Amino acid sequence: MMAQQAPAAPGRKTPTPFFGQVRVVSNRPLALDTFLLRLDAPSVARTAVPGQFLMLRIPGTTDPLLGRAFALWDAAADSTGQLRYVELGYLVVGKMTRAMRRLRRGELVEVWGPLGNGFPALEVEHLVMVAGGIGQTPFPALAKEYLGKARYGPKPRAARAQRVTLCYGTRTASLLAGLEVFRSLGVQVHISTDDGTAGHPGRVTELLQRVLRQESHRAGTLVVCCGPEPMMVQAARIAQQHHVRCLLSLEAPMACGIGVCCSCVVPVKEPGGEGWDYCRSCLQGPVFDARQLELDQLLAH
Ligand SMILES: Cc1cc2nc3c(=O)[nH]c(=O)nc-3n(C[C@H](O)[C@H](O)[C@H](O)COP(=O)(O)OP(=O)(O)OC[C@H]3O[C@@H](n4cnc5c(N)ncnc54)[C@H](O)[C@@H]3O)c2cc1C
Ligand code: FES
Repeated sequence: MMAQQAPAAPGRKTPTPFFGQVRVVSNRPLALDTFLLRLDAPSVARTAVPGQFLMLRIPGTTDPLLGRAFALWDAAADSTGQLRYVELGYLVVGKMTRAMRRLRRGELVEVWGPLGNGFPALEVEHLVMVAGGIGQTPFPALAKEYLGKARYGPKPRAARAQRVTLCYGTRTASLLAGLEVFRSLGVQVHISTDDGTAGHPGRVTELLQRVLRQESHRAGTLVVCCGPEPMMVQAARIAQQHHVRCLLSLEAPMACGIGVCCSCVVPVKEPGGEGWDYCRSCLQGPVFDARQLELDQLLAH
């Protein structure tokens, strides 16, 4: 492993992210066109918190030229019990993910991270995770942390939920990835598919609406959401109707991940609520409180 420190990004909090080449440990299928990549990256594994992401590049190629962002799926320990491995879940859609699918054990990839703010560590009664498409990838670690089954990051975090629910929607049943992980943690899983091949035939936001209608103690409920922007905006509006706090993990395209290129800007409300401006999702996000975001602009963006 060839490690260096990435250049300090303006406004970034410690610890300084790792930058270097790491080896592939495994790359195994989870579902149709969906894989779990395990990397040997101890300093990332020890410091990353749920909702943070890594930038990934294939060394020795300019196609694709730019890195791509991948959410922390989980961190895993070696045989001595020390955190050593980082896992990333990905759906094959384009240049980078097609190249990732070909990665074999022992090959090198370039990574920098962990990056971004991650999810806050809160004490809640009910954590409701809403995932669309490949948007479930930040949630295995988040569910583990909130259920007290794993700790993440350089400092102790006080995340806690009495129960965790996952509302998870894909186009079709064969794309559902990681269900056994969530179920084995004790997460209550509700599924939807666009074509009706599994679970509720329809949208994942309909599942969220159902869960929140049945909720008796909404002040103790937190909704977290990741997936296509129209789905996240709809989820944020449903949470707002029910007076439930909602956090969105945005997937604005990112080229540098460290605040330099401005490819990742998203519209946020200005303090005081009048007007809006852009901020860099790689630094201030990717996790935002839905109340911070200018949701109409996010859709038009
Ligand atoms: C903070 C953050 C976290 C992310 N986490 C993950 C993650 O955990 N797992 C993951 O797979 N991706 C994740 N992404 C998206 C990832 O960075 C890439 O954009 C994505 O994998 C496509 O890269 P590519 O080079 O394969 O496709 P490209 O060659 O860049 O794109 C090809 C085409 O695919 C489309 N496309 C991009 N994403 C999708 C999609 N999900 N479904 C269908 N079409 C798509 C693009 O619009 C484009 O038209 C994340 C992005 C961000 C910003
Ligand atoms: S990805 Fe370059 S500024 Fe955010």
